[in-house]
Amino acid sequence: MKVTVVGAGNVGATCADVLASREIANEIILLDIKEGFAEGKALDIWQTAPINLYDSRTIGSTNDYAMTKDSDVVVITSGLPRKPGMSRDDLIATNAGIVKTVTENVIKYSPNAIIVVVSNPLDVMTYCAYLNAKTDSKKVFGMAGVLDTARYRAFLATELNVSPKDIQAVLMGGHGDTMVPLPRYTTVAGIPVTELISEEKLNEIIERTKFGGGEIVKLLGTSAWYAPGAAAAQMVEAIVRDQKRIFPVCAWLTGEYGLKDIYLGVPVVLGKHGIERIIELDLNDAEKALLSESAEAVKSVMDVLDNMNATA
Ligand code: LAC
Repeated sequence: MKVTVVGAGNVGATCADVLASREIANEIILLDIKEGFAEGKALDIWQTAPINLYDSRTIGSTNDYAMTKDSDVVVITSGLPRKPGMSRDDLIATNAGIVKTVTENVIKYSPNAIIVVVSNPLDVMTYCAYLNAKTDSKKVFGMAGVLDTARYRAFLATELNVSPKDIQAVLMGGHGDTMVPLPRYTTVAGIPVTELISEEKLNEIIERTKFGGGEIVKLLGTSAWYAPGAAAAQMVEAIVRDQKRIFPVCAWLTGEYGLKDIYLGVPVVLGKHGIERIIELDLNDAEKALLSESAEAVKSVMDVLDNMNATA
């Protein structure tokens, strides 16, 4: 299996490192536009192989897409990260141009690749990749929910003092402040979370989750990378190993949840064909209202992209 990671910044390099060290793919191409940068990161990652005892090879490339030829999966992490005070949506103008160019190059050399988008603003950059890839929407989707649920599960694990392995959760909506963690679908080893935590504490954790990315931007002056990189690698693993894992993924909706022509986070089954199925939960009225609010927020940024394209 061959996997390309475009963007050798913190998220891309972390993703490549996880893909290699866990032998998720045997060939990993790490590509970046900055001269020598991806080669340097890839060499450093490859030199962990004798220490960590694996044989997956990571190879760097300065913008030579010919090296990405026939990739099975391509992860797009390119674009600027947030600085303190910025929302993900503030990045749209710069990152849309970058994601467009990257997607065109990726598809040129790997027309059948499955594309996992990580660039922000996530939902709209996934849409941008879809528009430019001109491929099946089941093969172009975004990484957000795996990261956002990981944050939610980590906060719950800390609060309840239990293993994060035992916390299962679903979260829907856009990758922004309107995301919708779903307490009704959150369990701890099968026990409904509401039996173990007060409503007040749970609401605090939900709020903290919604702003989980911003919390890290504030602390570091740039956005997170360990969890985003690992989350993208976990999605790649589900695809290349055809695991049929259920993850919240930013997917193109064609009527599911009463929504269409929009990229939004929903639970899906991920396997070798990409999105193999979108799972439709029986949401209650309050949950539906939150989801539609989130869809509106995403749609308004998609409209900004459509207008940019119309004038381009
Ligand atoms: C975050 C960025 C990667 O949520 O969107 O940390």
